[in-house]
Amino acid sequence: MSATAASLRNQFPLLAAAPDLHYLDSAATAQIHRLALDAMLHHEATRRANVLRGTYRLAEAADLAYEQARAIAARFLNAGAADEIVFTSGATASLNLVAHAFGNTLKAGDRVLISVAEHHSNFVPWQMLRERTGIELALIPLGADGQLDLAGLPELLDRNCRLVAVTHCSNVTGAMTDVATLVAAARRVGARVLLDGAQAVQHGPQDVRGMDVDFYAFSGHKCFGPGGVGVLWSRGELLAAMPPFLTGGGMIASVTNEVATWAEPPQRFEAGTPPIAQAVGLGAALEWMMGLPWARIHATEGHLCEMLITGLQCIPGLRLLGPQASAQRAPIVSFDIPGLHPHDICQVLDGHRLALRGGHHCAQPLLAALGVEACTRASIALYTDEAEIEALLDGLDYAVKVLT
Ligand code: ALA
Repeated sequence: MSATAASLRNQFPLLAAAPDLHYLDSAATAQIHRLALDAMLHHEATRRANVLRGTYRLAEAADLAYEQARAIAARFLNAGAADEIVFTSGATASLNLVAHAFGNTLKAGDRVLISVAEHHSNFVPWQMLRERTGIELALIPLGADGQLDLAGLPELLDRNCRLVAVTHCSNVTGAMTDVATLVAAARRVGARVLLDGAQAVQHGPQDVRGMDVDFYAFSGHKCFGPGGVGVLWSRGELLAAMPPFLTGGGMIASVTNEVATWAEPPQRFEAGTPPIAQAVGLGAALEWMMGLPWARIHATEGHLCEMLITGLQCIPGLRLLGPQASAQRAPIVSFDIPGLHPHDICQVLDGHRLALRGGHHCAQPLLAALGVEACTRASIALYTDEAEIEALLDGLDYAVKVLT
């Protein structure tokens, strides 16, 4: 293992304690960084109190830590202001929030454009909105190269299109969306753009203002932070124009017997007690990420992805799903070996201490478009090393032998 990968790996308690584990499932959940765990423990042990309610010093310390985490998330996304960050329970909750709150501003006949490559969490909420309101739901298809086929955008993006909601990076194929082309086309008809950033955030800080998008959603557990917390970013004026999704404590301006009025964002969208320690832990993880040498990390991740793809292409009959070149994808690689079920492959690999996900990856429409019911996925993160890719290729050779 190279010195860099080893020193990165040792910063993750689970990986440091399991030197023989080849964890290649970071697209499902990345390992948590020690600094995130330390920050949560410190918070719970010294500042545990509810937030935005108490006037005693302990509660004020909790408020400060929570709002500092919000400010860190804003810097991580290059948002315009900390108040544009809404803490949620994860990317799924963030996407449902938009489908309800922004969705409530839509009417029958308005169009929402998603893609066939969406995770179910950016698919089902829009299908439900269609049932509730009669919006039209249109799909960007998959191109032969495994990327979204944007050639049909002029027809798909008519004047009724109010929102384009697509993944920033496919959780199955790793294909990166051509955000610039999408945003330019959406702007021509005045449509808003939402990116599901769940898979992108693990590979570095993002620039929502540079990309000129309108909504960005991600989860803490995919970027080396804790589970149970996530972020929805949107422009201040858009958040201010949206009604709440969940209602209850903390999100109101006033309540009478008859009627309630809403707090300003972000509190309007944070009903109930938020995931306070988790937000603090996420802040620590994001702060750590912002200090990393990303150009070097991307070069290493790209090299490992290339090495994996080259090795996979030597396995007879194996079909690589999505883009064939590593340059067009994040380091997420899915494949199908006809006649072998991904669950069986993953079980055999587990015997070699290789952790991979097999199944439909919560993206059944994409798998249908690719012509498979299930596939095996390896995802590479900043702590992955060449030796682990070699172990995977050896493990697959073995799996093919024992399963055929
Ligand atoms: N969305 C996660 C995945 O792709 C769980 O595995």
